[in-house]
Amino acid sequence: TQFPGRRITTLITEARRNIPVMDKKAEAPGQAKRAAGYRAADMVEDGMVVGLGTGSTVYFTIERLSERVCDGLRITGIPTSFQTALRAREAHIPLATLDDCPEPDIAIDGADEVDPQLRLIKGRGAALLREKCVAAAAKHFVVVADEQKMVTKLGTAAVPVEVLPFAVMPVLADLRRLGCVPVIREAVRKDGPVITDNGNFIVDCTFPAISDPERLEEALAAIPGVLESGLFCGFVKKTTVIVGGQQKVKILPLTDIVA
Ligand code: 5RP
Repeated sequence: TQFPGRRITTLITEARRNIPVMDKKAEAPGQAKRAAGYRAADMVEDGMVVGLGTGSTVYFTIERLSERVCDGLRITGIPTSFQTALRAREAHIPLATLDDCPEPDIAIDGADEVDPQLRLIKGRGAALLREKCVAAAAKHFVVVADEQKMVTKLGTAAVPVEVLPFAVMPVLADLRRLGCVPVIREAVRKDGPVITDNGNFIVDCTFPAISDPERLEEALAAIPGVLESGLFCGFVKKTTVIVGGQQKVKILPLTDIVA
């Protein structure tokens, strides 16, 4: 069953009781990410299958879920990357795959940009392909972000695209024809390109402007050799965004909560 609005409202009201009090002087992005990550973890209920995204904000979700699991919460996590699987195992969160649990109750993930319509750019951590698979499979998608991720228009960040190495040269040509500057992402502390958890390359595509994100997502997906892009426009109806700020946590599209 879908998460109806009333159900989410109830979860948000319950989460309201557990608002972490933020120290104004504390390091802003870390605290904001923690607030968002913890709030999402507090929306998880006993027995749920939970898609676990990747990145520093979801790290806090895993941290809080770990505490709750130690207190008796029973959940099954579906990790979206090797990094998340390693962290979740350390955190004693039981894990499974989409083969075992093809319809997670909820997926919790970070974002690089979120626009007012709750469309996203993701993929800084090169986990976008599995992240999109898990988000698509989940009944509800909860995005955790700090205020700096909120934008009026997508496109300041490059759009990452996961590409089959076999096809990278024709894909680069097709990407240029779509109007972007594509750059194969280079690894750090390894010579050569980033290799994703699926054995592919990441190409970061900088567009002068993104006027129609849905159309661009479709155009990118239509290129043979492109596995997925970091544009997430198709999940808006089942998306809740938890925005961590200095003194308050905002939950979109439903409500504003002052800490
Ligand atoms: C990884 C992602 C991340 O979720 C996104 O980059 C946000 O990361 P962070 O929470 O560290 O800012 O898409 O592929």
